[in-house]
Amino acid sequence: MESAKQRIEQLREELDRHNNNYYVLNSPTITDKEFDDMMHELENLEHQYPEYDDPYSPTHRVGSDLSKGFKQFVHTRRMLSLGNTYSVEEVDDFVHRCKDGLPGENVTIVGELKFDGTSISLHYSHGRLVRAVTRGDGERGDDVTENVMTIRSIPLRLQGSGWPDEFEIRGEIVLPWKAFERLNEERAFNEEPLFANPRNAASGTLKLLNSAEVSRRGLDAYLYYLLGDNLPYDNHYDNMMAARKWGFKVSDAMTLLTDIADVDRYIKYWDSARKELPVATDGLVFKVNSLRQQLNLGFTAKSPRWAIAYKFQAERALTRLNHVSFEVGRTGVITPVANLDPVLLSGTIVKRASLHNEDIIRQLDIHEHDMVFVEKGGEIIPKITGVDTDARKTDSRPVTFVKECPSCHTPLVKKDDEAAWICPNKYGCQPQITGRIEHFVGRRMMNIDGIGDETAQMLYNKGLLQNIADLYTLKVSDLEYLDGFGLKSAQRAIQGIEESKNVPFGRVIFALSIPYVGETGAKKLAKACGDIDTLMNMSVEQLTAIDDIGPRIAESIIDYFSSPANREIIERLRSYGVTLSNPVNDNQSQSDLLAGKSIVISGTFTRHSRDEYKEIIEANGGKNVSSISKKTDYVLAGDNMGPAKLQKAQSLGIPIINEEQFLELIG
Ligand code: IVH
Repeated sequence: MESAKQRIEQLREELDRHNNNYYVLNSPTITDKEFDDMMHELENLEHQYPEYDDPYSPTHRVGSDLSKGFKQFVHTRRMLSLGNTYSVEEVDDFVHRCKDGLPGENVTIVGELKFDGTSISLHYSHGRLVRAVTRGDGERGDDVTENVMTIRSIPLRLQGSGWPDEFEIRGEIVLPWKAFERLNEERAFNEEPLFANPRNAASGTLKLLNSAEVSRRGLDAYLYYLLGDNLPYDNHYDNMMAARKWGFKVSDAMTLLTDIADVDRYIKYWDSARKELPVATDGLVFKVNSLRQQLNLGFTAKSPRWAIAYKFQAERALTRLNHVSFEVGRTGVITPVANLDPVLLSGTIVKRASLHNEDIIRQLDIHEHDMVFVEKGGEIIPKITGVDTDARKTDSRPVTFVKECPSCHTPLVKKDDEAAWICPNKYGCQPQITGRIEHFVGRRMMNIDGIGDETAQMLYNKGLLQNIADLYTLKVSDLEYLDGFGLKSAQRAIQGIEESKNVPFGRVIFALSIPYVGETGAKKLAKACGDIDTLMNMSVEQLTAIDDIGPRIAESIIDYFSSPANREIIERLRSYGVTLSNPVNDNQSQSDLLAGKSIVISGTFTRHSRDEYKEIIEANGGKNVSSISKKTDYVLAGDNMGPAKLQKAQSLGIPIINEEQFLELIG
């Protein structure tokens, strides 16, 4: 035992020293392989002797190359988002809708701030914090307990009394303005990339592998949603006030509002008062207070019917346009980008804004060095919404669109009825080639782990990757000695490439970067045509007969497959074993066994994922609906079915079936 402990210590010290040599001094004294081996030995020992675990061990903080990242946790109850509104009238409509849904009842609304950070779900058991999980995709998130435990405002042990033995509380992790500014100053000093806003900084910090650094950055957390079976009160507000007594930070802005006039006053007040707050907010949230009424109103697929977000008006800033640059996307579309004098806009420094296309430039009648108005209307990328023509110099010239590709200098082309200029040099223009490769490996396409944007660029520059098919010829030895790679990461990337051969046909179609063919379109094409040969030989008429495929998409598909270079890529993908057809004996597809049946899915499953069950239901003629009503025929229940759903299904007498029973049902 003692020798294991000593060896662990020795390895930690050595690895720390090599990390320092590598990352700080830029002069490694051992090879990647030696480093990998040492790390591997330490990982094994730590696994074998968990009692010697130490949050400061190098296994906890090395970059993505070696770390396994976070464990995933399936949410007990899905983490939904909120419907958005942008005006007092829309909020009033929401209140009316709630009242209409609860005839003859008094409806009290709770007004809250909408904190602009990253959401978190905290689990408490017998008064102790046992788990903290990020939202993730709503179904499952990352277990970030260790990092969350460093946030001083989150109680590790609860105070007072009256808390249920088991409960969940949700809220927002934020980085207060002051801490955000301090962090960015530090990063600027160290020439590290700056965080665009406190939201990005908060979520980036939460995912750090070094919890000591997390602790240093000064995250904070506001809680706004208590969930569990034995909550102390029958209404949201009282529960949150109880949570405050147990030690949680619940915002003072949380208020009961008894009528629409109250709601309107609340909006008016916070529309301006929010600017004084120590943390970023992007709106307000209104929730029906009574839990029984919440249950009656229920949920849509994405959000509760009993709550709504009101988004604050985007702030506007005035700044100078320095120059317009032109960028080439993977489909050859040229995007004009305005490079601006840096300006602070809702807490963010803005330096660039998209100008979208030539028509927008014309409509804005934007001139070189104009003073322009910038807004952040909901999207991440700010946009230019106007020009201060009074500030324009008399001799300034209008901004003109480039005539040739800024990368390969090929003359640009444009279809008469479209706004976008395109570089037609598809196979010779670097940003298009690497853009297509980057798209191909992306998570929603072939999901190839380990080949990111930078790697794709590097492999292209080294002549190892000219197109997506070349990926399948890569070997561990091609990657192992590249910057940022070691043996392990090279092996992982090659394994990712190998595994991508099993990605379903629909995603492969999406991954090809056929102009105008998006994710949904690709799936519909796969379903309708069955295999690549059929797709390659379809006419415009046949293609447009498919749901959602219009003439523009159809022509683009035909154009894509008419290119010998693309056909060659397809043939090569085929020869490497990439999935280019739907499964032959797909017993899950095409039956009428569930025709006319409405089925609600709830909980977590083992045999198939929720998404797969949705597909199975639809493939057998059924309809997947999100909330339980009298019209529901079955509830397909997995583990941890939400208690509200369970109660509602039982009270309406709707049959609840498990996965085995369901799969039996469809044979
Ligand atoms: S309630 C089922 N309350 O906004 C309702 N969310 O767009 C769950 N947020 O994912 C959310 N402040 O991250 C709620 N006072 C507040 C909030 C809030 C910020 C975030 C949260 C959520 C997103 C929804």
